[in-house]
Parts: sequence; structure tokens; C-alpha cells
Amino acid sequence: MEIKLWFCLILLSAITTSALGEFGGTLMEGFYKESCPLAEEIVKHNVEVAVLRDPRMAASLLRLQFHDCFVLGCDASVLLDTHGDMLSEKQATPNLNSLRGFEVIDYIKYLLEDACPLTVSCSDILAMAARDSVFLRGGPWWEVLLGRRDSLTASFSGANQFIPAPNSSLESLIVNFKQQGLGIQDLIALSGAHTIGKARCLSFKQRIVQPNMEQTFYVDEFKRHSTFRRILRSQCKDSSRDNQLSPLDLKTPAYFDNHYYINLLEGKGLLISDNVLVSEDHEGEIFKKVWEYAADKDLFFLDFVESMLKMGNINVLTGIEGQIRENCRFVNI
Ligand code: HEM
Ligand SMILES: *[C@@H]1O[C@H](CO)[C@@H](O)[C@H](O)[C@H]1NC(C)=O
Repeated sequence: MEIKLWFCLILLSAITTSALGEFGGTLMEGFYKESCPLAEEIVKHNVEVAVLRDPRMAASLLRLQFHDCFVLGCDASVLLDTHGDMLSEKQATPNLNSLRGFEVIDYIKYLLEDACPLTVSCSDILAMAARDSVFLRGGPWWEVLLGRRDSLTASFSGANQFIPAPNSSLESLIVNFKQQGLGIQDLIALSGAHTIGKARCLSFKQRIVQPNMEQTFYVDEFKRHSTFRRILRSQCKDSSRDNQLSPLDLKTPAYFDNHYYINLLEGKGLLISDNVLVSEDHEGEIFKKVWEYAADKDLFFLDFVESMLKMGNINVLTGIEGQIRENCRFVNI
């Protein structure tokens, strides 16, 4: 009897805390089916237009959701402009002169406000746009979970602290993802997002000047790999070229595929944080997973989707928490 009572109490408190959103509330498919039936269609169409105009935009929109979710959770805090003494996350080191796609999100929000005022959150727009971007570049499609609400604030210091640096060690990447409730499997699968998009010399020049980083998994790959570094080195010769861009996946930069992992095995991961997945775990679990993804695109797609859903769930605001912003750049007054 007493045991039963305790059980009920624990269950009850678990239910109330999750209803209060302490564990992130619940998202669902088709959240806007009644309140804004065209929402997903409007996002999809306009992401298509934006990507046609600028193919890199697919990568930029995908990255935008990542940078949103890792700071205060997936709450569109990354979209807020500096206002009063609240400093924008856009000014933080990982984002400054790097994060893009804000105008595309603004335009989609403008259309959605016209279609269904104060209904579709900016954080859900980010989730839909990321999904559509992946699919448009040949990646998997998945049913996004929706129902997020938008934050009332941003965290400049959080953006500096929680977005991993491109020269991170494997150890610190693992710790970084763990802080977000993501595991090693998520780290490996989500890093595969670097199959599209570009990076500045500033982000990878440490990798090409570092000695003792040579990879020799295949003897005959050694030469090609040296050529890879020579090209990058000439491209990033001096700091006046810090903003020069190079594709993260040199082989198939336009396609969302599993070439990222093949590159890693050949020692051609562009960022130090890419390369450490193989160099610091040679013959370990991570290395094995990289091999599996390199050999099996479908497996990578399956795991990528699973991890995107997990990432999209980080600390979401639901129910009556936060608000639905009218303009993604500002909190409603
Ligand atoms: C594992 C830790 C990660 C690190 C250290 C990292 C770091 C970086 C860096 C430094 C850039 C280039 C930025 C620049 O030079 O302007 C970049 C680009 C990019 N990242 Fe990551 N990233 C990580 C994980 C992720 C994840 C989880 C995703 C998405 C799921 C992602 C998606 C992208 C995309 C798509 C680009 C290209 C963006 C564009 O071309 O506009 N990254 N990342
Ligand atoms: C990463 O780069 C920054 C700035 O370029 C430097 O201050 C820091 O020491 C580097 N960290 C590692 C782990 O190499």
C-alpha cells in the first residue's frame, strides 16, 4: 500500500515537472495542421527559392538550427538582434561574420505572419528550414516535430561557451555534446552535416599548419593527402585571406551524402574537429562508426535523422512558455 502511494507520488511529480517544461515538453508532428495548415508548405517553397538563388543557403540554414539549439535550447535565441543591454548571439565568436540565412528566415516569418498571425514560432521555422535544406541537397527527409515557442532572451556568453570551436579535441567535443544531452553517436552522425557548406580559412588554417597531423591510413592516399594540404595552404597563405572559403566536403560539396566520412578516412577532414574523429580514435568505436557511415549512406541518413530529432528537442519551450515572436529579431513588446 505504502509502496503504491510512493509510486503514485513519484509518477505525479514526474508528470507535473514535465508539464512545466523542465524536461523540454512535448513536440509533435503536424502541430500547425489546424492553426496554420500551409505553414510547412510555405517554409518548403521559400527555402527552395532561397537555395535556387544561393545553393550554399541550404548549408547555412542547417547550421543555423544547430547554433540555435546549442545555446539555451531550440528557442530561436540565435535570431535575436542586440537590444538594450541584451547582446545578440550573432556577435559571438563562432557566429560573427559566419552565420548566415537570417534574411531568409525573416522573409518566411513575414509570409507566415501574413497567413496566420502570431502562430508559427521562429524556432519551428528553423527546424522546418533545416529539414527542407537537407532534403533539397539530396539528403533524407523526415517528419519534423513542432510546437516549439520562442525565447524572451539571447545568450552571447552561451554562444561563446557552448558552440564547439573548430580546433576542439575529441575529448572536448564529447563533453560539449554531452552538456546538450547528446551522445557520441550523435556527435559522429551530426558532424556529417559538414557534407555541405563552406568554411573560412580562419576556421581551418590551424589544421593545415599543424605538424604531425599526417594521416596514413592508406599508403597510396598519402600523396593525395599531401596535395590536399598543399592546396589549402596556398589558399590560406596569409591572414589577409582569413575569409576565403573552402568546401567542407571537397569531393561532393553540393550533395548531402556520406562523402564526409570517406574524406575523414582519407585524412581530408577540413576542420581539426572533423579530423579528430579518426585521428584521436584510431581503431576505436568512433573510428568504426566512421567506417560504417563511409560504407553505408542509408545507415548514415537513418542515424542523422535520429540525431537531428534529438538535437531539435534540446530544452524546447512549449505550451505557455516563451512566446510566438512577431519578428524573429525582436521579442514582442
Ligand atoms: C562537432 C562540432 C562542430 C564544429 C566544431 C563545427 C564547426 C564549424 C565551423 C568552424 C564551420 C565553418 C564556419 C566558418 O568558417 O565561417 C562550420 C560550418 C558548418 N557547420 Fe559545423 N561544426 C560542428 C557541428 C555541426 C553540426 C552538428 C551541424 C549541423 C547539424 C553543422 C553544420 C554546419 C554546416 C552546414 C556548415 C556550413 C555552413 C555554411 O556554408 O554556411 N556543424 N562548422
Ligand atoms: C584554438 O584556437 C584558439 C584561437 O585561435 C586558441 O586560442 C586556442 O588555444 C586553440 N585551442 C586549441 C585546443 O588548440
